[in-house]
Amino acid sequence: MNQTDVLNAKESLSEFQPADLRNKFLELYHQEPLVVRSPGRINLIGEHTDYNEGFVMPAAIDREILVGISSAQGPKATLYSVKHDETVTFDVNNPEKVENPAWANYLLGVVRQFVDKGYDLKPFHAIIGGNVPTGAGLSSSAALECGFAFAVDQLHGFQVPKLDLIHMAQWAEHHYVGVKCGIMDQFSSMMGAAGQAFVLDCRSLSYRYFPVDLKDYTIVLCDTMVKHSLANSAYNTRRSECEKGVAILKEHYPAVRSLRDVTADMLQAHRDEFPGKVYDRCIYIVAENERVLQASEDLAKGNLNAFGQRLYASHDGLSRLYEVSCLELDFLVDEAKKFGGVLGARMMGGGFGGCTINIVKKDRVNEFIDTLKAAYQHTIHREMVGYVVALKDGTSIVPLTAKEPSLL
Ligand code: GLA
Repeated sequence: MNQTDVLNAKESLSEFQPADLRNKFLELYHQEPLVVRSPGRINLIGEHTDYNEGFVMPAAIDREILVGISSAQGPKATLYSVKHDETVTFDVNNPEKVENPAWANYLLGVVRQFVDKGYDLKPFHAIIGGNVPTGAGLSSSAALECGFAFAVDQLHGFQVPKLDLIHMAQWAEHHYVGVKCGIMDQFSSMMGAAGQAFVLDCRSLSYRYFPVDLKDYTIVLCDTMVKHSLANSAYNTRRSECEKGVAILKEHYPAVRSLRDVTADMLQAHRDEFPGKVYDRCIYIVAENERVLQASEDLAKGNLNAFGQRLYASHDGLSRLYEVSCLELDFLVDEAKKFGGVLGARMMGGGFGGCTINIVKKDRVNEFIDTLKAAYQHTIHREMVGYVVALKDGTSIVPLTAKEPSLL
């Protein structure tokens, strides 16, 4: 437990709205901003499959990062974070990575991409706020990168295609933040659709939206309120373990490019050649890819029980084989299993803390959250937070109507 970074109680930004962002912008810069919203995401199933060119089933949610932006007169650009009440000033043509504050790197990395791609950037003021909880596995960082990339693009009128902005946001995460993430989070934030989830093929980037119809059930997130500090390094280690597995199989099957091309039989046939935990990592990924495709069929047929069981199976693999779960996540999934009105539950996102996703009977949601909260407090001695989420559109401009001047 001593490597746990306890997340600070609740985000003070939970009620932060576009009008608040606009007011802050007017107060700081005396100019009307363009305001962009970019949502966090959930993932129904398909965890750690994205960087293995596999399948995921995410959706954008009603927790958003807000970005306000306008042109600046001076030679420098400024970034202001509402949450940190901090300003960073930088040369728009030379956005160097900084030691501190860490939040600025998500944005500076995006600016670096515009510069490297030859876009002629003008100085600007940007402020960021929002209500995506950080460290909860809801991709607040991707929402920040995507919202900001979209805002910079809109301000300058470059009309960069959304898919390019997604890649630019992912680049920022790889090179300025240091996490070799897949494409799922940025893709979901940018491309989400209200009321819908989608199946994304992370190799071809083809995707199919579908309405999420869970009948008497709904999606509830349970936030462990912890993020273990090994999360980022372990994430990169998992990625290289998967690459190691691919390199071994390539010797025997030259057509293999990623674990996407691998079957359980291929792994089994060469099991002895896999060092350490590499076999377990690979067998999990192969099974999880298969589960996403099967889960998609379950949902199409309305077979919610089967869908729920796949979530439990996914968690089991993430915990035992891929080893990205933790005590707190395992505890909440076990408690969900014990509670009568849950079809399925699993950890969500990169792991080592953050949220579980649960498919809960609508009329038992409050009882479910109260029960898990009490159990968590009793055994883990921490507060758990429950969120009921709605599915929303991806990154877009927020239409703000300026207040009519009052005649009184
Ligand atoms: C993080 C990464 C994603 C994905 C998930 C695990 O959220 O940013 O790319 O790999 O973990 O599925």
